[in-house]
Amino acid sequence: MDAHELGYFTEATSAEVVAGRNKNAESDRLREVMEVITRKLHEAIKEIEPTQEEWFEAIMFLTRTGHMCDDWRQEFILLSDVLGVSMLVDAVNSRRPTGASENTVLGPFHVGDAPEYQMGHNICLDQKGDDMVVRGTVRDVDGNPLEGVKIDVWQANDEGFYDVQQKGIQPDFNLRGVFRTGADGTYWFRAVRPKHYSIPADGPVGDLLRRLGRHPFRPAHLHYIVSKDGYDELTTHIFDPDDEYLHSDAVFGVKQSLIAEFVRVEEPERAKAVGFDGPYWDVEFDFVLAPKAAKAA
Ligand code: BEZ
Ligand code: FE
Repeated sequence: MDAHELGYFTEATSAEVVAGRNKNAESDRLREVMEVITRKLHEAIKEIEPTQEEWFEAIMFLTRTGHMCDDWRQEFILLSDVLGVSMLVDAVNSRRPTGASENTVLGPFHVGDAPEYQMGHNICLDQKGDDMVVRGTVRDVDGNPLEGVKIDVWQANDEGFYDVQQKGIQPDFNLRGVFRTGADGTYWFRAVRPKHYSIPADGPVGDLLRRLGRHPFRPAHLHYIVSKDGYDELTTHIFDPDDEYLHSDAVFGVKQSLIAEFVRVEEPERAKAVGFDGPYWDVEFDFVLAPKAAKAA
C-alpha cells in the first residue's frame, strides 16, 4: 500500500486524508489547488458544524444556481460577484505600479463586436436620457500621451438596462462603441448619464441577497476596456459620485480612483460646440496604462 492509502478518515485527519488521496493528480498546480480548497472547506465545516438539513440546503442552493445558467445567464459568476470573489481574483491579477489606472470587474454585458466610431460620436442611439460628453487622455506611467489606444465603452441606459437586456426595446449596440486615440492621446464621445441598476435578482443569488438583508444595486457607471499592444489591458469603470449606491455596490466594484466628476454645462455655445441643443453633463476622466511586464511587487 502506498503512503497516501494509509490512515482512515477521522474528524481530526479529514483534510490530510482527502488531500493525500490526490497524490497522482495530473499536475502540481491541480494538486496544490485541491489541497488548499479541501483544507479551507474542511476548516469551515468544522467551525460551522452544519446540520444535515443545513448542508442539504447549501447543496440545493448550488443546484438552483447551476440550473439558472445558460448561454445568456451565468448565475455562478453572479455568485462570485456578490461574494467579492470576482473582485479579489481581479485584484490579484491586476497589481500595477503606482500611478497606473486600476481595474474593476468586467461584468456580463460586454459584447465583442461593438461598432468603431470617430471621436465625438453619440453612442446613445435612441435619444433617451440626459446628454453627456465623456472625454480624457490616455497616457503611459511617465505622462506621455498614447496614440492608437483602443477604447471600448459600454453602459446602461437612463433606466438602468443594457441593450442586450432589452432586445427589441433598445436599438442593438445602444450605448456601446469603440474609439481610438490620436497622436495627442485624447478621446471623447457623447452618451447619456447612466443610472444605477439591479444585477439580475430573480434567481438564487437574488434570494441570497434578500435573505442577507442586502440590496442588488450597482451604482451608476460606464465600463471601459482600454488597450494597446505592449501595455497591460485595463478593464475598468468610471463611477458617478452622486449615486446613492456608491458606498454599497452589490459586487464591490467601486474604487476611490475610479470616481469621476459630472459637471453640468449650461452655456449654449459650449453645448453647440459639442453638438447638443441644450445643457449637458461633462465628464473628464484620464487613464494611465502600465507597460505589460510591470507588475507591482
Ligand atoms: C456590470 O457592471 O455590468 C455587472 C457586474 C457584475 C454583475 C452584474 C453586472
Ligand atoms: Fe455595468
